[in-house]
Formats: sequence, C-alpha cells, structure tokens
Amino acid sequence: MADKVYRASTTAPVNIAVVKYWGKRDPKLNLPTNSSLSVTLSQADLRTLTTASCSSSYPASEGDSLLLNGEKSDVSGARTQACFRELRARRAALEASDPSLPKLSTMPLRLVSENNFPTAAGLASSAAGFAALVRAIANLYELPASPSELSLIARQGSGSACRSLFGGYVAWRMGDAADGSDSMADQVAEASHWPEMRALILVVSAAKKGVSSTSGMQQTVATSGLFQERIARVVPQNMAAMEKAIQARDFASFAEVTMRDSNSFHATCADTYPPIFYMNDVSRAAIRAVEQINAAAGRTVAAYTFDAGPNAVIYYLEQDTEAVVGTMYHVLGGEVDGWKDAAVKGLKPSVSLDEG
Ligand code: DP6
Repeated sequence: MADKVYRASTTAPVNIAVVKYWGKRDPKLNLPTNSSLSVTLSQADLRTLTTASCSSSYPASEGDSLLLNGEKSDVSGARTQACFRELRARRAALEASDPSLPKLSTMPLRLVSENNFPTAAGLASSAAGFAALVRAIANLYELPASPSELSLIARQGSGSACRSLFGGYVAWRMGDAADGSDSMADQVAEASHWPEMRALILVVSAAKKGVSSTSGMQQTVATSGLFQERIARVVPQNMAAMEKAIQARDFASFAEVTMRDSNSFHATCADTYPPIFYMNDVSRAAIRAVEQINAAAGRTVAAYTFDAGPNAVIYYLEQDTEAVVGTMYHVLGGEVDGWKDAAVKGLKPSVSLDEG
C-alpha cells in the first residue's frame, strides 16, 4: 500500500469580531495583547473548504504544498510552518505509541483550499482559511484533539482563526502563559442560544486591503498611546459587558458594545503613527445610516462593526430585517457617492448562524 493516498476534507466558517483582537504581545507565538469575542457566520454563505492529503508516493522533493482558489500558495511562511509542525508532532506521538499506524507524519502534505468569498477583502479569510487547514490536517491525522486544542494551533496561523473552530458566540482568551498554552478559544454560547441574530455584510470594496492586520497591529502596538488605554481598560470592560449581553440576549447592549469597540479599535488605528485608515467615506456613511435606522426605530435595532478594511458588517435581529436591510439600501442607495460600486453581499439578505 505504499502508494496509498490518505485524504480528509473539512469546511470552516468566517467569524466577525464584536470585541476586536488588535495587537500581539508575542508575534512569534501569535499571542494577543487582549482577549476578543466574535460571532461565527453561516457556512452556507461564507466558508473555506479544504482537503488535506498525504502519501508516500508524493515526491519528497516537492515538499508540502497549498493550492488556494486554484493558485499555488507559499507554505514556507513561519505561521503555516508552525501549524504543520504542531500537527505533525501530535501525529508522530500517536505513531510512536501505536507502531501499527501508517507513518503519515513523514509524508508530504498537499492542501487544496477554496473560499466562496473574496480573499483578503477584510472578510476574515485568514480566519476561515487557517481554521480549515488545521482541522483538515487534524482529521487526516485522526488526532483526538478538542476544538480548543485545535484553536491553539490555528492561532499560530492567524490569531482570529482560533475563533473559527467554534460556531455561535466565541471568545479567544488571551491567557498569560509565556508559551501560549492557555491562549485559545472557547464557546460563550451556541448559535441556537440567540437564533434571531443576523449579519449583513456590505462589501464596500472587494480589493485586497492596504495595510495587513499583522503589520497594522504591530505599528499600533509600537506607536499608539491610546492603545494602552484600550488594552488595559476598554477591552476588559467590553469583554465582560459583551458576555453579559449575549447571555441575556440583550440586543441593545450587544449593539452598543459592538459599535463602541469598533470605534475604539479604529481610533487606535488613527492614533498609530503614521495613522492607519481602514474605513472610507462609504464606511462612514454606513455608520450614519445605522444611527438613522436606530433613531427612526426609537430603539437600537442595528450595530455596525469594521475590521481591517472598509466593509461594514451590520448585526441585527431577524424581526428587524425590514427596518435594517430596507433602510440600508434606501439611505445608502440614494445619497452615497460610490455606493453604486458597493455590492451588497446580501446573503439572503442576511447571514444566519450555525454551529460551525
Ligand atoms: C481587525 O487574525 O488577521 O479582524 O494574527 O496577524 O493573522 P494575524 O491577524 P488577524 O487579525 C484580525 C484583526 C481584526 C479583528 C478580529 O478579528 O478580532
């Protein structure tokens, strides 16, 4: 059976943070300066599908490889290598304890990965990508690893990826161990706990982002004074308030913390020297539109949040679809310059949550 090809496939969802990860205390181990919390979106709309295979018939000279959306992708980077190394070490330990197991850990790996959404458009593609990569290889190696344990590995690929190993509402606890052994994700609540939650994604631009998250957050850590306030006080408060809001299914609180945390994160970007601007005029118009929607409703029915790019994610509850999605089209469609170019990745028109 020397030529046998071993294969496993998996999908991983996108997550959008409502309390943002921004800053590394250890870039090598990818340890964050603060905890974060996200909502996992439906895989029906946004997901990465990855197949991992290995075989002793794959030429060793070709090494490990990754085909991403049909194109050869570099796997020599330290983060991908860290994931491969961690997964191989766990497989090697299994093989050492049971000599009858095939020596998959010594075979070249081939990964084939596909996103059903634009890569690097600020839609957290690295999160779904590394979560799928880690789980596909863990399945291939038949590792008895829990989602939290896999999140430890995925974190080393991309920080936000550790949250895509769970569905629903997910926290990444920053931890305090120097080796990162307690910096992993856990589930705060299942999607079914608050099934009315929806996310509308306004794709303001599907272009690749200007300043990558990785380098942007390092510049912020190095130069922003405001950032110190954010990690010491703002985020710990937001984490506590957010967990409480989710447990109580209190949308007004969930929304306020989401919007405040997004504003706080983008304020630290503006306080970075030289400043980093991820939002553009269309993004800011979306903020105003959400404020108008909430004012017109006389209560908070919508919350905006922005990652390291101009696209808006609007959270709302299903019963308010008409007020939120209808008004978003109306307000932005008529008044915003450039809105014609902004595709609404409407997602039926919303993204429902699932268990991941
Ligand atoms: C703004 O996870 O992409 O989306 O760990 O360097 O790969 P690396 O960064 P990444 O950063 C995500 C930043 C964010 C906020 C968040 O998702 O929490």
